[in-house]
Amino acid sequence: MACFRSVFSTRFPQSHRLFLHLASPLPRAPAHTTAAATPQPLFFIRQINMQAQNVAARLSSSGFLHAQGLVGGKWTDAYDGKTIEVRNPATGEVIANVPCMGRNETNDAITSAYDAFNSWKKLTAADRSKRLRKWYDLLMAHKEELGQLITLEQGKPLKEAIGEVGYGAGFIEFSAEEAKRVYGDIIPSPLPDRRLFVLKQPVGVVGAITPWNFPLAMITRKVGPALACGCTVVIKPSELTPLTALAAAELSLQAGIPPGVVNVVMGNASEIGEALLSSPKVRKITFTGSTAVGKKLMAGSAGTVKKVSLELGGNAPCIVFDDADLEVALKGTLATKFRNSGQTCVCANRILVQEGIYDKFADALSTAVQNMKVGNGFGEDVVQGPLINEAAVQKVESLIKDAISKGAKVILGGKRHSLGMTFYEPTVISDVKNEMLISREEVFGPVAPLLKFKTEEEAIHMANDTNAGLAAYLFTTNVQRSWRVSEALEYGIVGVNEGIISTEVAPFGGVKQSGVGREGSKYGMDEYLEIKYVCLGNLS
Ligand code: SIN
Repeated sequence: MACFRSVFSTRFPQSHRLFLHLASPLPRAPAHTTAAATPQPLFFIRQINMQAQNVAARLSSSGFLHAQGLVGGKWTDAYDGKTIEVRNPATGEVIANVPCMGRNETNDAITSAYDAFNSWKKLTAADRSKRLRKWYDLLMAHKEELGQLITLEQGKPLKEAIGEVGYGAGFIEFSAEEAKRVYGDIIPSPLPDRRLFVLKQPVGVVGAITPWNFPLAMITRKVGPALACGCTVVIKPSELTPLTALAAAELSLQAGIPPGVVNVVMGNASEIGEALLSSPKVRKITFTGSTAVGKKLMAGSAGTVKKVSLELGGNAPCIVFDDADLEVALKGTLATKFRNSGQTCVCANRILVQEGIYDKFADALSTAVQNMKVGNGFGEDVVQGPLINEAAVQKVESLIKDAISKGAKVILGGKRHSLGMTFYEPTVISDVKNEMLISREEVFGPVAPLLKFKTEEEAIHMANDTNAGLAAYLFTTNVQRSWRVSEALEYGIVGVNEGIISTEVAPFGGVKQSGVGREGSKYGMDEYLEIKYVCLGNLS
């Protein structure tokens, strides 16, 4: 399956980087801190298999691994000493214990970011740009180790993980370039003795809450433009995958990004979220994750009227018309459906196939899916890793059960993989209806549900019949149809004859309940900027 290896290792094939609960304060105890320049021994490995042990040993010797939070440039434990375990989803083994931080550590991180903001924003754009560029260089120089770390804590196949490093680093490189292009404006004055200017200024301290499915790229996509614009950040990575975030933060220090500009806290999600939301010093919340949590963050931001960017759940339709090129449609569908074992918010969630091509497409898809190798992400030729945890598998199981009880048929898979753990068989099911739960909720697993439609109007209606509006895909060789349908789809991103749409140079984001704001591209910069109008008067 050569095509899979290339499809799953990158986002766009043309470039290496184009692709891819929410609380009383605890008494303040002295922080166990160490200087940023001298990384502490980390990886408190209890039990680990040989393969992962070798990887962990190599990573440890690389000097950029940390199992502590980063507050004001100091590697910091939880003030009460509590820790949480980080596990390898492929084996269940504990890889590391990281601090279980909460309100107090977050408040200190906010203060550090607030203090650092005063000097970071005053650097020239060129200076910020150089440091970001250096960060990009370091991320790329360590792409193999970072990829291994991603596979270790997140589970995705190594090639795909290394692809994520290129994708993620691309946001830093792009932001380094854009830093120099934050232009203002001069407005022709309606009065002769006045001059009107528009300045763009950094928003301030940003709270960045990121998910486990892209442990690096979802951080860089937020932190790159934030820093480029002159903002400082408090990052809360997912507790399931914090090690990549900590390694990236270490590299940011090595790149000359001053202490306090990038802070990382993790642990008690409710306390950390609450501290970020309630602080008037935090001027912006940026979040990638579930729609339910996004709504809470949006509501919680109202108290201090923060700017918000939310990249929330999707329910992507992938429409295959009778006039599609079968090979192109197949390749695109496989890429969008099975990337990261189906665990992305832009993965095809419903595959709508026109009746004339339905049987042929279902056969071809099932044959291709049958050949996908499932296993530990470090295994050779593996293209499907484990799901992130048991809850994820149970969700997939319940959606399939509901679909079958309502008439869907399993063509392939439909059960846990014989490898055990959280491995699930790549699955194709037919006779799915838009009313079934599997068509209403994000599957977030390697399941391709096929729905049949007759007309273009019916496909558009089915595609738009959801509260989500992130990504949609369509496959057709009819140019007029490609325009007509793209315009009719109520989605923030449309892939036409293409299943891989993510890149740092294009705006990523959704409409309806899939979120607000855009990430990446020149549009993503505006999310971290305030517009100030200056009226210069009395000039005559
Ligand atoms: C992507 O960047 O392509 C996917 C992001 C996500 O799943 O949230």
